[in-house]
Amino acid sequence: MFTKETYMARREQLKKSVGSGILVLPGNDECGMNYEDNTYDFRQDSTFLYFFGLPYAGLTAIIDIDRNEEIIFGDEATIDDIVWTGTQPSLRERCEKAGITKILPSKKTAGFMHISYAEDRKFHCLPPYRAEHRLKLLEWLGCVPEPSVEFIRAVVSQRNRKSADEIAEIEKACNITSDMHIAAMRELQIGMKECEIAGLMSDIACSAGGRPAFPIIATVNGQTLHNHYHGNTVKDGDMLLIDAGAETETGYCGDMSSTIPAGKKFTPAQKEIYDIQVASHLAAVEALRPGVPFEAVYNLSAKVICEGMKSLGLMRGDMEEAVEAGAHALFFPCGLGHMMGLDVHDMENLGEVWVGYDGKPKSTQFGRKSLRLARPLEPGFVLTVEPGIYFIPELIDLWESEKRFSGFINYEKVKNFRSFGGLRNEEDYLITETGARRLGKKIPLTTAEVEELR
Ligand code: GLY
Ligand code: MN
Repeated sequence: MFTKETYMARREQLKKSVGSGILVLPGNDECGMNYEDNTYDFRQDSTFLYFFGLPYAGLTAIIDIDRNEEIIFGDEATIDDIVWTGTQPSLRERCEKAGITKILPSKKTAGFMHISYAEDRKFHCLPPYRAEHRLKLLEWLGCVPEPSVEFIRAVVSQRNRKSADEIAEIEKACNITSDMHIAAMRELQIGMKECEIAGLMSDIACSAGGRPAFPIIATVNGQTLHNHYHGNTVKDGDMLLIDAGAETETGYCGDMSSTIPAGKKFTPAQKEIYDIQVASHLAAVEALRPGVPFEAVYNLSAKVICEGMKSLGLMRGDMEEAVEAGAHALFFPCGLGHMMGLDVHDMENLGEVWVGYDGKPKSTQFGRKSLRLARPLEPGFVLTVEPGIYFIPELIDLWESEKRFSGFINYEKVKNFRSFGGLRNEEDYLITETGARRLGKKIPLTTAEVEELR
């Protein structure tokens, strides 16, 4: 946890931004995997963590702005809890660390809500993403209220700009994340199973006191963007695409990707495509600075990919026009990056339109619609840069059958790459006053750097 003054100052700012009403923040509960007592690893809600720092299950926070009151609803450990889970600080002691002095038993939550509701007080809620949140809201308010835009906007504007304390935590997560990737690059051998590399990386995250920030991707089928299957054996000539990150004990995340040849070197065809992807990556990084819309950085990285495809004869025509039309999405059907912080996709539960678009509408164009961040960059933003090149057989076949963008795409040539797979690299950046700074130790990026480590 940070100091209690940090959480108190964050709540003061939140109260000022929203102005009036009651802010409702349900924390997360334990969740049974296959029976109630066999739980998934507990993870507190990130907005709850940001404003209260308390990483414990079974809490609800209320901030009554009009009465200037902050309450945590929760229960002290029973003797049974202590028998099974050990001696622990009291809830009061825990709450003091967050600067909270008013604590009420959880059975009083519904009563508090009902009285406030009868008084016609205004409730502000965030979009629920867990069934337990919906059930609680139903019990307390008789409905799942429409999310409060004032509340969402206030939270986003605070959490989007990272403080020095937060940046230090994110940098810790990024350093562990780098270690995970470097170990995978060193250890991968032909004949290993994907799960061996996934297990190795998971170990590093856990041994550092945290855990993986999201389900690890370690796949020979990198053309599938979020491939969580780890059952394949890595063969000579394969590339292993890894997308993995660590979360620290305090909940801050890292998120990096790398693509490793199974043997000591990339094949000539792999190198050709990989080099295009690195050029796109470097162009994007070079363009990061305050004031630049991230959508412009995405357009630039897509254009570099298209120019590379054109140089190989897979595309033709004016590549700026191709990107505007959306033809790049045959090879790059996803976004370029996303905000990162207490969530690996920071605040995605609050809505990408608020986090990444400042309330402006998103494009519906295939590929571009998956861009999670488009707004002008500001100092303090932490984001990922992760262009990729993917040859997805079903997508190639579909677009060819529709003759989609046939003015820009040479399907006869593209078909030669149907079984190529996919590759991506990803780094994490902090936007500074004048540009951007990479967070975490550098992981090998160019083919020469990767091959040197193999
Ligand atoms: N690391 C997974 C993603 O960014 O989508
Ligand atoms: Mn990412």
